[in-house]
Amino acid sequence: MKQIILTGDRPTGRLHVGHYVGSLKERVRLQNEGRYDEIYIMIADAQALTDNAEHPEKVRKNILNVALDYLACGLDPEKCTFLIQSMVPELTELTFYYMNLVTVSRVQRNPTVKSEIQQRNFEASVPVGFFCYPISQAADITAFRATAVPVGEDQLPMLEQCREIVRSFNRVYGETLIEPEVVLPKNQACLRLPGIDGREKMGKSLGNCIYLSERPEDIKTKVMSMYTDPTHLRREDPGHTKDNPVFIYLEAFCRPEHFAEFLPEYSGLDELKAHYERGGLGDVTVKKFLNHVLQTELRPIHPAARKRGKPPPPPSATCATP
Ligand code: TRP
Repeated sequence: MKQIILTGDRPTGRLHVGHYVGSLKERVRLQNEGRYDEIYIMIADAQALTDNAEHPEKVRKNILNVALDYLACGLDPEKCTFLIQSMVPELTELTFYYMNLVTVSRVQRNPTVKSEIQQRNFEASVPVGFFCYPISQAADITAFRATAVPVGEDQLPMLEQCREIVRSFNRVYGETLIEPEVVLPKNQACLRLPGIDGREKMGKSLGNCIYLSERPEDIKTKVMSMYTDPTHLRREDPGHTKDNPVFIYLEAFCRPEHFAEFLPEYSGLDELKAHYERGGLGDVTVKKFLNHVLQTELRPIHPAARKRGKPPPPPSATCATP
């Protein structure tokens, strides 16, 4: 059986570091692994319209922005097919048929739909199109005969719903559709990156994102203003690393080389965490390190910064520059 990937994003804004570690990085890895016969990356404009019916111009404008972010991350049009959902009208047709295989109460129980309805204050008046988007997503996946869907953790209920539709369809019409598998990042911290304000999720509408297209100086300002452990008031105080976004970002982004380059007095993240938890390590030191890590990781994604000739961030004073 052909190994096929299909995945995508709603074009409602620029992509952020949560998208990057949660899914984009994984897609680039899978693309370069060469194990897949076909890779489809969908810009889901029709789905974006289901909760932006009043703002079609926003969706239109962001189709290109998302495409630019894809290219900047290293998704390669030689290896992947990029497509715009609304330009494949057969997907809408297929959605219409799948609607007969799903009950209203089943969609109502979908945890992602539930929380999105709440976030958007749709409680009293959920648009029918929005309510049906899990069904249209099943059409996207199955129409391309996808075997693997690399997505963020928040999309798990969508994939479960898709698999149920596949089973119902195959029961009635005979073995036709393929049940797709989800591909999640292995690193726990990448599954759901919190916002810079410490809220559980990074979201455009929450204003707590670091965007991939952000200027290096703005990334620095955001990192230095990040929420940390509120009980860690003075440097000497013992601190918490567990629900501390600065440490979660480090878990998601930092590699041993970053310690060698920017913080050589620590052998790695475990030692840094242990020091913070014991007390005696200030937030500013940790945030400066995170800034170096993010700047290093995001620099290849931000060619404009390279073109402007911005020097890389200065290494820390203690750093043994080669
Ligand atoms: N729901 C996805 C998001 O919110 C976008 C999407 C649409 C998608 N169709 C898909 C993801 C098919 C994976 C597979 O970003």
